[in-house]
Amino acid sequence: MNKRPDDVARMFDDVARHYDRTNSVLSGGNAILWRAAMVRAVAPMPAERILDVAAGTGTSSAALQRNGARVVALDFSAGMVAEGRRKHPKIEFIEGDAEKLPFGDNEFDAVTISFGLRNVNEPKVALSEMYRVLKPGGRLVVCEFSKPPVAIFRAGYWAYLQYVMPTIVDRVSSNPDAYGYLAESIKAWPDQGELSQWIRGAGFTRVAYRNLTGGIVALHRGSKPVDASVLASVAKRKSNATRPITLPGAAAQNSKP
Ligand SMILES: C[S@@+](CC[C@H](N)C(=O)[O-])C[C@H]1O[C@@H](n2cnc3c(N)ncnc32)[C@H](O)[C@@H]1O
Repeated sequence: MNKRPDDVARMFDDVARHYDRTNSVLSGGNAILWRAAMVRAVAPMPAERILDVAAGTGTSSAALQRNGARVVALDFSAGMVAEGRRKHPKIEFIEGDAEKLPFGDNEFDAVTISFGLRNVNEPKVALSEMYRVLKPGGRLVVCEFSKPPVAIFRAGYWAYLQYVMPTIVDRVSSNPDAYGYLAESIKAWPDQGELSQWIRGAGFTRVAYRNLTGGIVALHRGSKPVDASVLASVAKRKSNATRPITLPGAAAQNSKP
């Protein structure tokens, strides 16, 4: 499916104004419960620095800030950021890309992303960036739509996405096409087990998840290791993965004038 960053940013620019209202209607009020569960999982402490990636209009960031943490809300849609600044003037918003976070290494106590990772073009790159900016021992929490494990419930949910949601969206959204993308992107998204593997692959340890509303949403968490030797082995594995492969004989050939 098309997740070209320019198109995704433009789509969110278009829905920014009514985004929160549409969300709470479509989730049947569950969005509030999912956010409360996300905040409990992050467990923000006063004075901690927390990064909310793909923060949109900052609804997730505001919920995190209530506990006295210093939250930075990052999103690449100028429209969502403008709406966020209007609604939450006390939150620091930054326009930026999840795949190229504009922060140094080891800056945040916790990093979280709610309903954003599915929209990122290269989610594994974004997970790697979140790992990089976290302090050793820092927490990652990913709140995202997922796959209900019980087949009959999943079938009912898929039917809701395909037949019921479009009717509701026609009435409440300023851009119904954007919500066609929502259903498609939810179906194409990996299940709980595969996302856990991606998170481990980015270097996180103590990875676990919890289903919310029968698995319509899953909360994944992980930690950046504290141990220096584990951190070094993750860094080595990542640098080997990005190093170009040299084929036998290629070095000799490359050295020819
Ligand atoms: C469904 S909204 C979620 C907003 C918010 N976290 C919430 O829970 O309401 C997804 C957001 O992801 C943002 N997004 C998608 N790809 C991104 C990227 N590569 N970098 C930054 N933001 C991105 C979009 O602009 C959009 O605001």
